[in-house]
Amino acid sequence: MNEQEVIDIERRLMANVYAKRPVTLNRGRGALVWDIHGKEYIDCTGSYGVCIVGHSHPKVVEAIKRQAETLISCHGSFYNDERSKLLQKIVQITPKSLNKIFLGNSGAESVECAIKLARKFSGSPEIIAMMTAFHGKTMGALSATWNKKYREPFKPLVPGFKHVPPDNLEKIRGAITEKTAAILVEPIRGEGGVRIPPKGFLQELREICDEEDVLLIFDEVQTGFGRTGKMFACEHWGVTPDILCLAKSVAGGLPLGITIAKENIMSSFKLGEHTSTFSGNPLVCAAACAAIDVMVEERLPERAASHGRYFKEKLKELQARYNIVREVRGLGLMIGVEFRFDILNIILQSMDKGVLVLDAGRNILRFLPPLVIEKEQIDKVISVLGTILEEGENEQLRS
Ligand SMILES: Cc1ncc(COP(=O)(O)O)c(C=O)c1O
Repeated sequence: MNEQEVIDIERRLMANVYAKRPVTLNRGRGALVWDIHGKEYIDCTGSYGVCIVGHSHPKVVEAIKRQAETLISCHGSFYNDERSKLLQKIVQITPKSLNKIFLGNSGAESVECAIKLARKFSGSPEIIAMMTAFHGKTMGALSATWNKKYREPFKPLVPGFKHVPPDNLEKIRGAITEKTAAILVEPIRGEGGVRIPPKGFLQELREICDEEDVLLIFDEVQTGFGRTGKMFACEHWGVTPDILCLAKSVAGGLPLGITIAKENIMSSFKLGEHTSTFSGNPLVCAAACAAIDVMVEERLPERAASHGRYFKEKLKELQARYNIVREVRGLGLMIGVEFRFDILNIILQSMDKGVLVLDAGRNILRFLPPLVIEKEQIDKVISVLGTILEEGENEQLRS
């Protein structure tokens, strides 16, 4: 099939819900992807943060092949060895007090599970979420998501959700009532612009939840599994939530959502109250076991910390040179660069020059590369951006 045929078919048959980029990818390895013509790109999107261990990591590929020949499908109502291996691995790497798991299929689903769980456990309906938060687009997760563009067309949403200004403990405390089940936060807001909370915020939030007898839910769908330089972002602040939502990167590129909670909380679900047909299927579990082994053996969180520091230093050098860069921020290999204008042209020009990057709002570039990215690849990304910014000083990017 040639590229035009691919594009025509997707345009004709696929729901028109993605802002498509004019490139057809068909191969990947590590931090690199190639298009249908063989052009190479450094993938700083990491498939929206999915490819923590890199594209087609050989150990993940091997696990998928092996498991595909053994057993692909096994409903949660039967026991399965790969699933139980994965459950053990998850509790080994997540905070100690979290030890009961629901396996789903996506980030939004892991949030749906957390919302239902908080309501069931507490017997209360209200969830407090943050303005600018992103938690997914299924109806429950969407009700916790802030962006009006995503919410408005689908009203009425699930009742019981309140949004408060992020990082504002007074407003959060003021929003709690006797009907509040939980507070839901991303430790670092990703889609909301790569925003790190102020010092002490998450610790104090934990204290408020304890004082008010309200559950604390962390959505680490984007920040989990080494992305920020620790296995989970909450470790930077030494704060453990009551419920933790995970997804994106855990299965080396296959779909898997995880909701992990304290045992007494997860035990409030009774038989049949929250299930999913594909939940914990052996193929995905085998891939996730391999991916977690890679994260641990290759010390990917440490690598994200050191390479992230290097990447940020280089970006800050660009900031010092070009006034159009307002701020560089982030933790590990979750980095945002805020510009003084719309960045669509930067994204397109980077792609032209062999670098794929994400946005996080109109004027923020976001980098979520595979954690296996090499320093030389980071240097190339910086050189490409430098060239574009140099040209951008001549007004070109401002259209
Ligand atoms: C913090 C956060 N939560 C939830 C989601 C939703 O995940 P999914 O797209 O897998 O449903 C995302 C996706 O970007 C996310 O960043």
